[in-house]
Amino acid sequence: MNMNVSTMCLADLDDVVELERLSFPTPWSRDAFRDELTNNSRATYLVVRDSHGTAVAYGGFWLIFDEAHVTNVAVHPAHRRRGIGCMLMITLMYSALAKGALRMTLEVRVSNHGAQQLYKKLGFVSEGIRRGYYLDTREDALVMWVSDLRAAVGRVKLEQAARDGIDDDCNDSACTKGERETDV
Ligand SMILES: CC(C)(COP(=O)(O)OP(=O)(O)OC[C@H]1O[C@@H](n2cnc3c(N)ncnc32)[C@H](O)[C@@H]1OP(=O)(O)O)[C@@H](O)C(=O)NCCC(=O)NCCS
Repeated sequence: MNMNVSTMCLADLDDVVELERLSFPTPWSRDAFRDELTNNSRATYLVVRDSHGTAVAYGGFWLIFDEAHVTNVAVHPAHRRRGIGCMLMITLMYSALAKGALRMTLEVRVSNHGAQQLYKKLGFVSEGIRRGYYLDTREDALVMWVSDLRAAVGRVKLEQAARDGIDDDCNDSACTKGERETDV
């Protein structure tokens, strides 16, 4: 499964808005994404496309001093559980590290166990709860952190190297399915 990761641009907006609509109960608007791309110098957004050029995922973060705050991550429902979310998160982590982030954080709904599982695999640790954080349902958010982004990225790299070298079906690396070519 070859995937291409590129920096999101205005031409991606139709696809991204559709992915957003399919993924979240209260999706961000097109204007919100446009604003992120044109007016927010702290923002980095990536889009994942498959070998046919179809947008299958996107995600982004804000770099605030040396902290990267993940704003959203979504994979098309038809393409989930194939390692794409994991590959995208790793690429966001690399990108944030390259831009000077030392730590990375995100909020996730307390009921979103799948996403939490993904983040834990990548080294995120729960460090608190924001009560009623999600305005649509007043659901609480779990606040997760990678306190040493360089170490977490290094660990993932080592796991990938071990996987590439060993190439068996029995490994426990963070991300074993999605492969990427990246333009970021
Ligand atoms: C969360 C999300 C991005 C995961 O994307 P994905 O491409 O399906 O994730 P991956 O295939 O890379 O999963 C990697 C690992 O994460 C965990 N995981 C991901 N989704 C899971 C689920 N629904 N249930 C349990 N574990 C899950 C598993 O450990 C998985 O490894 P495995 O498939 O070998 O068991 C995707 O489900 C999504 O877009 N959800 C809707 C939007 C959303 O909730 N975004 C996160 C907001 S904080």
